Amino acid sequence: MISKEERAAELYEVIRACRLCALAETRTHAVPGEGPLDAEVMCIGEAPGLNEDRQGRPFVGAAGQFLTELLAEAGLRRDEVYICNVLKCRPPGNRDPLPGEIAACAEYLDLQIDLVDPLVIVTLGRFSMARWFPQQTISRIHGKPKVVDGRYIVPMYHTAAALHQGALRQVLVEDFRNLRGVIARARHGDYQSAGAAPAVSAAPEPREALAPGPGIRADGPPAPPTAVAARQVPNRAPDPPRPAGPRRPDREAPAPAEPRQISFFDQDT
Ligand code: URA
Repeated sequence: MISKEERAAELYEVIRACRLCALAETRTHAVPGEGPLDAEVMCIGEAPGLNEDRQGRPFVGAAGQFLTELLAEAGLRRDEVYICNVLKCRPPGNRDPLPGEIAACAEYLDLQIDLVDPLVIVTLGRFSMARWFPQQTISRIHGKPKVVDGRYIVPMYHTAAALHQGALRQVLVEDFRNLRGVIARARHGDYQSAGAAPAVSAAPEPREALAPGPGIRADGPPAPPTAVAARQVPNRAPDPPRPAGPRRPDREAPAPAEPRQISFFDQDT
């Protein structure tokens, strides 16, 4: 039986050697992500910046420092959260990710989510938000949790945005304070609270495994999925249906759920 650690190590190795898009030519280091493989909370940013590219670790610059402060508002230490990005390599000049780059990296993120299986996913910025809420705008739904495929997805502004627009700082602080209550509810298996939208499935369509191309793919049309990762990092057997109640009773704190501070939104599409 392959352990989670072995699967993660293999996945990180594949990511570090990835040449599925042109970012492989300009990166210093790929940045797979980091954190405990049994983390309850996963944060997903956009793409590595300059510092991350140099160090091979996510969120190590000013945006990362702010993220650490925000996590504290939610009652979390950085080292108990799994942190990664939509893109694993830095776009030159920190430009926005291109559709082909997002597609090339998508399967890596799928595998990370599958591996860690967090109770709560926090998306940071519009590119990670778009994976679950493609038609939404961040200004409308930030901080509002939604149950998707049996876990909470909480879209947040990107921490870097607050470094440029001071007004967003307090918005992020408030949203992360409310995250505390979302986590408490998830620990108690409460996914259908009063006012909650019914769980929806926003999972991407299953993708065919394609033979990995040996070369670098140019940007433009979305790159095919990285079957390399799927093949080299064995997936676990499909999960049985989740029983009602706490998903991780072994880790559940006996404390009562915190006051309800969360709100929900309806997805338009
Ligand atoms: N911004 C991101 O989206 N990710 C990082 O890792 C750093 C900054």
